[in-house]
Parts: sequence; structure tokens; C-alpha cells
Amino acid sequence: MGLFRDTVIQLSENKTLNDLTKQMGLKFGARKFVGGVDTEEAIETFKSINADGMSVTFDNLGEFITDTMDATYEKDLILEMIKAIDEHKVNAHCSVKLTQIGLDIDYEFCKTNFREILEAAKQVGIFVNIDMESYRVYDATMRMLDEMLEEFDNVGTVLQSYLFDSEEDVIKHKDERVRIVKGAYKEDPSVALQERESIDIAFEELIKKHLTEGTGFTSIATHDHNIIYNIMDFVERENIDKDTFEFQMLYGFRYDLAKQIVKKGYSMCIYVPYGNDWYAYFMRRIAERPQNVNLLVKDLMDN
Ligand code: FDA
Repeated sequence: MGLFRDTVIQLSENKTLNDLTKQMGLKFGARKFVGGVDTEEAIETFKSINADGMSVTFDNLGEFITDTMDATYEKDLILEMIKAIDEHKVNAHCSVKLTQIGLDIDYEFCKTNFREILEAAKQVGIFVNIDMESYRVYDATMRMLDEMLEEFDNVGTVLQSYLFDSEEDVIKHKDERVRIVKGAYKEDPSVALQERESIDIAFEELIKKHLTEGTGFTSIATHDHNIIYNIMDFVERENIDKDTFEFQMLYGFRYDLAKQIVKKGYSMCIYVPYGNDWYAYFMRRIAERPQNVNLLVKDLMDN
């Protein structure tokens, strides 16, 4: 299982495969996890999710960007989506990977792009979440968050429970809006927990700390029903206001469970990736859940 996960994560980072698959449209079952190839298709997906009583966080797919023109193009697509959300009056906010808008090219260039996104989003009342990528860009991501928090109040990030740093970070960011996840990348044992059980324990602890220690809004991002039910028991017991947190799930995963959660009166936000650059995202989903390989096989048989 560990070897399978490591191999698939390594494949997800292969630049040639990332470039090749961009030209192919949504293949290998990716459509199940990707809410459309462009802004127009994605907006229709957001509307149907909103109709089920859930909000959306969108992710314009794209990683490993090393060219300034590509980074500028991706930033413009994000601005286009912010405009479309405002025009269509859909309930959606923005998730951004900093490597998509130039972090691997130059920090200041990325900051200029990110500031433009935050300004546009602020004008129309949209929150922007910085997705947390691999530990390689962790310090730069946290620095960007700190610097942008000096200028904006519509920005937050993600804490990964497998990282040792997160125990301290959750207190540091207790008054900010934070998404808490288990963590999706392959990290070195010197910086991250490796065992599923300890990652799960740390995950619950981080969530409980963020819910109780400060004033920040908590996004609890998981498909793990056991953890979701444990947190529901906890918030009931501690009398925590349901307006101070939400659950989040990825598009295409456990939608029935998401609907049940909404029925119980909790807020649910669906993370919807869209666009042609789906390969790395899709491969990480296979690494997490090998059953998703079935989708890939089925698609190959159908074509
Ligand atoms: P996990 O995969 O550990 O599963 C636990 C158990 O839940 C399984 O054993 C099974 O019983 C059940 N289960 C899970 N999925 C199921 C399914 N589809 N059907 C049936 N049962 C299922 N990561 C990151 O590093 N940076 C980020 O910015 C983000 N952002 C993000 C946003 C959102 C909205 C989500 C949901 C996730 C992320 N992640 C992320 C990914 C995250 O770190 C993690 O890799 C995945 O969510 C997988 O972990 P889970 O907590 O979902 O359960």
C-alpha cells in the first residue's frame, strides 16, 4: 500500500506526463473529479452544488508552472472565475496553489499575482484560500500568508496534520480562517508523521484546537466518516456554534454523505477543481484511494 502510494505520487509529479495530459481533455475517468474544462462549465457545476444547499471552493487546476507567461495566464483565469462568480451570484470562494501563479519562478512575481487575485476577490466579497502544497514550498507559503494578512482580511491557508509544524501553526493561526486536512503529499519522516493512525489522531486534535482556542473559522476537510462523526459529537458536547465551522469534501467523493451532513444542519463546502491541467490532482486522488484505479480502467475499456 505504501509502495503503491509512493509510486503514484511520484508519477503525479512527472512533468512530461503533466504536459502531455493537458492536451487530451478530461480522460481516464478524470471527469468524475473535475467540475468542467472551463469557467462556463464549472459555473454550471457550482450552481447544481449550491442547489443542494452547499457552497463551493473552486480550484483552477495547474501545478509545476515555471514560465512567467503561463503563470500570468493562470492568474487571469482565476480573475475570470472571480468575475463569473460575482456575475452569476453563485456561492463560491477561491482556492489557489501558489506554484500555479509563479512561486517556483520568483517570490515577488508570485506576490504581485496573488495580490491582484486578493484585490479582485475582496472587491466582490470572496474569500481566498491558499492550498498547502508539498513541504518544499511550506516556508514560502506561510511567509506569503503572513505578508498578505497585513494587507487583506479575505485570505487563509491549510494546515496538514501529518506535518510536525502544524501543532504550533494551529495556535499561531487560531484567529484566522483555516482549512485542516490530513495531507496529500509524500513527505520525509524528518518533517511529517508517516503512520495513518497517528496522522488521524493529530488531525482530530488540530481540528478540536482550532475550534476551541481562538475566533477563526474552521474548515474540516475530509471524507473520513469516523472523524466527521467524532467532530459532530465534540461540537455538540462543547456547544460550539455551527456558524464557526464547516465540513469540506472534494468534488466527486461521497456526495451522499455530504448531503446527509447538510440534512443534519451543518455547513458543507465542495472543493471543485476545473480545467485541463487535471493529471497531478487526479493521480493524488488515486494514491489516496486505490479503488479509484477502477475509473481509469473503465475509461480505457470504453475508449
Ligand atoms: P482518508 O483517505 O484517510 O480515508 C479515511 C477513511 O474514510 C477510509 O479508510 C474510508 O473508510 C473512508 N473513505 C474515504 N474516502 C472514501 C470514499 N471515497 N468512499 C468511501 N469511504 C471513504 N491536502 C493537502 O495536502 N493540501 C490541501 O490544500 C488539501 N486540500 C483539500 C481540500 C479538501 C476539501 C479535501 C477534502 C482534501 C484536501 N486535501 C489537501 C487532501 C487531504 O490532505 C487528504 O489527502 C484527503 O482528503 C484524503 O484524506 P481523508 O481525510 O479524506 O480520508
